[in-house]
Amino acid sequence: MDNLNRQLLDHIKALHGAGVEWLPRTSALEVATQSASPGASAAEQLTSFGPTGDPELSNRRVALTTLAGEVKGCTRCAELCSTRAQTVFGVGNPLAEVCFIGEAPGADEDAQGEPFVGAAGQLLNKILAASGFKREEIYICNILKCRPPGNRTPLAEEAANCRDFLERQLEMIAPKYIVALGGCAATNLLQTTLSIAKLRGRFHVYRNSKLLVTYHPAYLLPNKDPSKKKEVWEDMKFLVTAMGRSLPDSSSNTDG
Ligand code: URA
Repeated sequence: MDNLNRQLLDHIKALHGAGVEWLPRTSALEVATQSASPGASAAEQLTSFGPTGDPELSNRRVALTTLAGEVKGCTRCAELCSTRAQTVFGVGNPLAEVCFIGEAPGADEDAQGEPFVGAAGQLLNKILAASGFKREEIYICNILKCRPPGNRTPLAEEAANCRDFLERQLEMIAPKYIVALGGCAATNLLQTTLSIAKLRGRFHVYRNSKLLVTYHPAYLLPNKDPSKKKEVWEDMKFLVTAMGRSLPDSSSNTDG
């Protein structure tokens, strides 16, 4: 595969990671991919996403694609844009009823272009499954779209630089519920310095969404504070009940 096709394929994968599942097939793309071999060409990958026939879904995908492209070229934070491998826009269903928002990409997310794919992501997947959510039905993103070097905490200035991307992203998805995962998400979305212990257990308001605060999955990993699992489980039950959903039969506890 030549360089142009490689770049095109990387771009399409990033868009797919951002929740974009189809794009119009243009003659320019076909020309660009005519020499692609071996394996599936970028144009083939495009058509495999397939249109849905749902105009609202299509509109949101196009809007998110455009915004993801803008984020990809962002140079607002000199340090982050010179150290990132790529931007990590978000992933999931543009029509999601609930959006989970973390802090910032880590090393795995920076490498793969998708949020929550590393150790914390594996734990998030377990939490979601235990609560009856499929990863593809919800939307997942972060306060920052770039990895802070060494996974340091995002600076207030970086969060401020990224804020308008997040606000526009949330406006497009218009989730009824938001789950702020950890202190960084809670602080930035609610503009508060209160601790998670003080913020969890009830809904807050973020624009038109009901916002629930809980601990970040990374905080529950064995080397941090696994005792907080019980609280996270209570928070998820609170959310699921408020959404009028039921828990899977197997969800009597969250151990393991
Ligand atoms: N932690 C986050 O807050 N976000 C990710 O995407 C991964 C780890």
